[in-house]
Amino acid sequence: MITDRWGNDMTAASQAAADRYSDTVFSYLEFRKDTGDCLKALMAADADMPMAHVLRGYFFKLFAVPALEERAKKGAADAAAKAQARGATPREQLHVAALAAWAAGDYARTVALWDEILVDHSRDMLALRLSHFTQFYMGRSAGVRDAIARVLPRWRESDPDIAFLHGMYAFGLEECGDYAAAEDYGRRAVAAHPDDTWSVHAVAHVLEMQGRHREGIRFLEGLEAHWPACNNFNFHMWWHKALYHYELGQFDACLSLYDQKFRAEKTDEYLDLTNAIAMLWRLEDRGVAVGDRWVELTERAEKRAGDLLMPFPDMHYVMALAAGGKMDAANGMVAAMKALPDDPVNYERQVLRTAGAILAGAITAYRAKDFGRAVDLLMPIRYGLQPVGGSHAQRDIFALLLIEAAIRAKRPALARALLAERLALKPNSGVSWDSYGDVLATLSDSAGAAQAKQKAAAIRA
Ligand SMILES: [Fe+2]
Repeated sequence: MITDRWGNDMTAASQAAADRYSDTVFSYLEFRKDTGDCLKALMAADADMPMAHVLRGYFFKLFAVPALEERAKKGAADAAAKAQARGATPREQLHVAALAAWAAGDYARTVALWDEILVDHSRDMLALRLSHFTQFYMGRSAGVRDAIARVLPRWRESDPDIAFLHGMYAFGLEECGDYAAAEDYGRRAVAAHPDDTWSVHAVAHVLEMQGRHREGIRFLEGLEAHWPACNNFNFHMWWHKALYHYELGQFDACLSLYDQKFRAEKTDEYLDLTNAIAMLWRLEDRGVAVGDRWVELTERAEKRAGDLLMPFPDMHYVMALAAGGKMDAANGMVAAMKALPDDPVNYERQVLRTAGAILAGAITAYRAKDFGRAVDLLMPIRYGLQPVGGSHAQRDIFALLLIEAAIRAKRPALARALLAERLALKPNSGVSWDSYGDVLATLSDSAGAAQAKQKAAAIRA
């Protein structure tokens, strides 16, 4: 019987070929740089393996690049043909169907198929990771958590790969606000497997959400030696470190990490762009001179303006276009989102043409200095932004935008209310105490303003 690393039956030419499949999935789990090489070795070992074609098709989808969408569709057709020719197992057939659904933009069916696989095959690591990840980009926090919870009891504690599950579960728990349990699972995972950056990332999120910024910086410093082996996900880790510095008001440190770490390489990858765009936006709103850093981001956003593939990065492309003065292109993206056909099956399109288009309109209004309009657009949908995707920490940029828009629209009472709300969630945010102090001073609450400024200074000290 040929099986993968996790004991799932494989339709493969040899055990060695199945081992190459396991290598590839393992490399993907660890965000290693050699995932592409592993995939090549897999194809060389067995070019007719159904799961090899499924895996390659999944990778095309994970890039989230329009040019690879057709290849993902072709990958689904190839996988189906190989599955039929070789007589694939029912589990593998479900993967083929999941790839076809994903290539068609039907996220709900895709995730349902992976979850169906996991009911009977709790050790299908690929289905597990993809269900976890894709639901994250759907903003479906409970699914991110529960995909792992459902299978965890079926894994042996002695299995070293259970650390991957603990790390994923930690992230799901964190996104659901269960920070204590998230930290517990996350730290167990990191202790067992410190080069699993996704687990480190889960703990980093807990520390961010709980405002444990200095502790977060120290925590990441203890693990960053592992990141050179990591693909571009390492940039996101440096971005998290910069986020701690931002909340502490240490903007020079943010810019230094920007230049030397997470934007040292000027890539076109969507996560890299969102890291950079969201950080520059934050800093500029705090009055930091960001120099000509928008220029390359705006150029890259212009090239990706037609993507409309993943709502969360698409919002950031609108931000970069508007920040870089390409208002026509930014407005063009908003118009293109509104013009998307009503396609209930296609997840991205449905989000983009509804909440996405409104949010993007608020971003362009803000940058056009129509702050009142930005507020009016955002206020009614602020609790409906989760489907845009990304983490709570990432979507925080939209909460910050709304607060700043209220301040600049000269609606200080609303800004006071929104800042009170953010500070209740983030009592250690130096930047928000600063803004709160300014707003209270505007409202002639000098005692409150002094108190807020004192808190900001104490956090910075
Ligand atoms: Fe993150």
